[in-house]
Amino acid sequence: MAHQRELQGLKVLLANTYALYLKTQNYHWNVVGPQFHAYHLLFETEYKELLDAVDEIAERIRAKGQYSPGSFKEFSELKTIPEAKAKLDALGMIKDLSESHETICKSLHELLEKAKTENDDVTQDLILERMEFHEKTIWMLKSHLQH
Ligand SMILES: [Fe+2]
Repeated sequence: MAHQRELQGLKVLLANTYALYLKTQNYHWNVVGPQFHAYHLLFETEYKELLDAVDEIAERIRAKGQYSPGSFKEFSELKTIPEAKAKLDALGMIKDLSESHETICKSLHELLEKAKTENDDVTQDLILERMEFHEKTIWMLKSHLQH
């Protein structure tokens, strides 16, 4: 049923957004090197945005009539992005984060098609907002990897 596929997609989006929030905050704490301050602040801006998004996505699931997942166990079963890696240098963190943003972006395109099938305009609006953030963040992260 299309409705269930859309809701499942929202739950995966929630888990991935929470997982990327935690990973970005992990790197905010653990980044080292001469550019420490710049990366520390960049990651802070990003994890705060992701945390706001977590709340918005969970409340959309509730507005659609289902209970929202909200435990580490559920999130780790639903998420499709890898956990934070230990001992990455700053550019390794940047690369890992941008890959996770790309994974989420790709799943957002699939979720948008499901929301269109459902004629669910509000969820489509939420998805477009999330795409805009992830695409902008990929650009900003990848700019650090260019010379
Ligand atoms: Fe902090």
